[in-house]
Amino acid sequence: MTTRRKLAAGNWKMNGTQAALAEISALNAAFPAPACDVIICPPAPFISAMAALKGVVKVGGQDCHANASGAHTGDVSAEILADAGATAVIVGHSERRADHGESDQTVNDKAQAAWRAGLLAIICVGEVEDERTAGNALSIVGGQLAGSIPDGATGENTVIAYEPVWAIGTGLVPTLKDIAEMHDFMRAELTTRFGADVANTIRFLYGGSVKPTNAAEIFAVSNVDGALVGGASLKAADFGGIIAAAANA
Ligand code: 13P
Repeated sequence: MTTRRKLAAGNWKMNGTQAALAEISALNAAFPAPACDVIICPPAPFISAMAALKGVVKVGGQDCHANASGAHTGDVSAEILADAGATAVIVGHSERRADHGESDQTVNDKAQAAWRAGLLAIICVGEVEDERTAGNALSIVGGQLAGSIPDGATGENTVIAYEPVWAIGTGLVPTLKDIAEMHDFMRAELTTRFGADVANTIRFLYGGSVKPTNAAEIFAVSNVDGALVGGASLKAADFGGIIAAAANA
């Protein structure tokens, strides 16, 4: 059986200040040697300073452009993120897909850009509420996986985050049975495409209203290898509870 090390990833979205770097220092102090990987993805201007703390908390970007450089005002490339000290980047978050009209192909291109720069690509998928209500959640996510994950994905270069859009920032969480169904389905889809040897190394995060209070039960679900956390990643006290739950899972 493949053992996948758990990953607690935080997505600060468009929140935080330089003063909030104290939260990272607090996490580094509280977890000198956590039994799971820890990544925080702050707004891009904070990446260098966060990386300079050099603790166990690794730093990621929240998005990258597909190109390495060029005339793309306001965008950040994977190479620039890596140069600033990032080791990972989120691509295809539902907020990017919705706010910026990103297609599966766009996300696929960005994941390849992440690999080109030596970054871990955290590729996000997830259905909206109407799609789940209509019974289409699995087929929607299956399509997103097929379109968004480039050929060549491995456990070294890729993490998949399943984030049902209706669960993000709402306090709503799918039943544990529904999370298991989706994560088992994703494992089966990747096994068909990449073969079991590769598919079994790729970690699957659940994201959407993960809190210290529900993290342990979510981490115990089949094929859940960690979490991608929004609101509860902003404070060390909250995220620390999630790291501790991942480490004990
Ligand atoms: P919340 O944890 O705030 O629901 O956000 C989840 C998310 O979108 C992480 O990328």
